[in-house]
Amino acid sequence: MVSLLEIRDLRVVYPNGHEALRSVSMKAEPGEIVAIVGRSGAGKSTLLRCINGLQRTASGSIILDGQEITSMDESQLRVARRKIGFVWQEYNLVDRLPVITNVLTGRLGYNDGLTGLLGYFNTKHREIAVRNLSRVSLLHRANQRADRLSGGEKQRAAIARAITQQPTIVLADEPVSSLDPELSRQVIHDLSTVARADGVLTLISIHQVNLAKSFVDRIVGIADGTVVFDGPPSRLDDEAMNLIYRSGHPAVVADCVEPLALAAV
Ligand SMILES: Nc1ncnc2c1ncn2[C@@H]1O[C@H](COP(=O)(O)OP(=O)(O)O)[C@@H](O)[C@H]1O
Ligand SMILES: [Mg+2]
Repeated sequence: MVSLLEIRDLRVVYPNGHEALRSVSMKAEPGEIVAIVGRSGAGKSTLLRCINGLQRTASGSIILDGQEITSMDESQLRVARRKIGFVWQEYNLVDRLPVITNVLTGRLGYNDGLTGLLGYFNTKHREIAVRNLSRVSLLHRANQRADRLSGGEKQRAAIARAITQQPTIVLADEPVSSLDPELSRQVIHDLSTVARADGVLTLISIHQVNLAKSFVDRIVGIADGTVVFDGPPSRLDDEAMNLIYRSGHPAVVADCVEPLALAAV
């Protein structure tokens, strides 16, 4: 069976010669909610950027929904990205626009671009956006400017925008790093609940392993640019945590503060 996402032997080398990913392989299916965990510098963001086609790869392949991302040119990537929702740590909302308009930008790929940009979204698009705002409990903020929202609300608006794309995959790169524990919990709850209900494969890079464990189906642990753990949260025992957070060459281990922080979570 062909998986929705198939990554094979992915390798990324940055222009300065740093090998950020070496031989990463994984498969994932529709509706799976997957946490990508690992120390700072492990390669989580690099991996997500590769799937989005934002990062050039040295070798290996990424097949998403039957299409090879790694060999696409820019115009092919633009089309492919319509089906890829992205949620950033810094929200990336347009501050001066109302929340509903921000969410509607998720429909841009479905409009003639100019029509979309001018704001003439048709009723069907608006219905989808309104429904998704309500799913993240933000309908009452629909007409407020995005910069008036709190951090947690901004991220929930970003989730509504991503899901309004009706994507096949959502990539969330540290979506709760700027939020306190309670808001983080609500954001991960909303993201995983909505994505699961819609059957959207979701990869979330996240530092808070305990938080991830209560909401995701699967954890992929990355250390030094390679997958060192892949399994359900129930299998993430101390040994696995050591592999993810303590393996690697000494130079990297030396500045590793996350395992200690995590132990306290
Ligand atoms: N543009 C770049 N040029 C050179 N090295 C980079 C660049 N971006 C990231 N790196 C390095 O690649 C490694 C992986 O980075 P990243 O994917 O951002 O890790 P993570 O998201 O897990 O913290 C790190 O060692 C980082 O310093
Ligand atoms: Mg990162």
